Amino acid sequence: SSKTFTLSDGKKIPAVGLGTWQSSSEDAYNAVATALQNGYRHIDTAWIYGNEKEVGKAIKDSGIPREEIFITTKLWNTHQDDVAKAVDTSLQNLGVDYIDLYLMHWPIAFNPDANSTFPKIEKNGKLVADIVGGREKYLETWKKMEEVFTTTKKLRSIGVSNFDVNKLSKLLTVAKVKPVADQVESHPLLPQFELLEFAKKHDIQIEAYSPLGSTGTSVLKNETIISLAKKYDVSPATIVLSWQVSRGVVVLPKSVHKERIIDNLKTITLKDEDIKAIDDISKTTTERVCDPIKFWNYDLFGTEEYV
Ligand code: A2P
Repeated sequence: SSKTFTLSDGKKIPAVGLGTWQSSSEDAYNAVATALQNGYRHIDTAWIYGNEKEVGKAIKDSGIPREEIFITTKLWNTHQDDVAKAVDTSLQNLGVDYIDLYLMHWPIAFNPDANSTFPKIEKNGKLVADIVGGREKYLETWKKMEEVFTTTKKLRSIGVSNFDVNKLSKLLTVAKVKPVADQVESHPLLPQFELLEFAKKHDIQIEAYSPLGSTGTSVLKNETIISLAKKYDVSPATIVLSWQVSRGVVVLPKSVHKERIIDNLKTITLKDEDIKAIDDISKTTTERVCDPIKFWNYDLFGTEEYV
């Protein structure tokens, strides 16, 4: 699909972009090259994925003019104190002179002086993330992102990732530049209804990462999804991605396989009753892939305490 959504700052964003989380460097190069050859014009990466250089090289090698491609990358948690430097590093890695959408990867700042990009410390006999700056550090970090956004031409739009309603609303009360997007985990087993409603009210674009449920979830094996795939004679992936696009959500499916990359760009129009059936899936089960409790013993989406 070449469908686009319009961000609150007027910029257009293609509704489907290629995700590159968990793609090795070589796979990322090939996936981006394949995607661009087959009609994708939106690539999503992050400093922490370790593949910005290959993503940038594939973009360059595609021969497609830079301005026709929408590139998103993200500020890593250990780099929140020096946003200007992090932006320059990503620009250099990607080999471009601007980023279409720059996101704060998490509303969590990790110790920048630790010898790791996932620093841990011991607390109450447990290893937990080495978090600095307190619970509201992201407000300061946002100011630094605004500074780069307003004083340079390096960032076309700025936004956030992994923000829930609570943090997004707090950010809106202080932001001089409104975040245009919030990229979160979203799929039929984590539909994010409340966040989506809040975001629509405030004209913030929701982007779904792990829209197919990533690895290890049952999204693509769900009975409702499979029966709808048969009904429409498309893949389960097409059903899930079409459901998101129909409710105004940008999707970032990741694949390193050509047939899947091609398949994932396709979206169809679903009947209202089928959209409703997908909406209802999470009434019985939910699953979260990217859980800060699992990663860092940190209850980001709950009481914001170490667990
Ligand atoms: P692979 O990269 O080997 O194709 P998500 O986008 O939710 O993170 O999901 C990505 C996972 O789903 C990856 O394991 C990817 O594997 C797999 N995948 C991607 N596209 C499809 C598809 N069209 N059908 C089935 N599995 C897919």
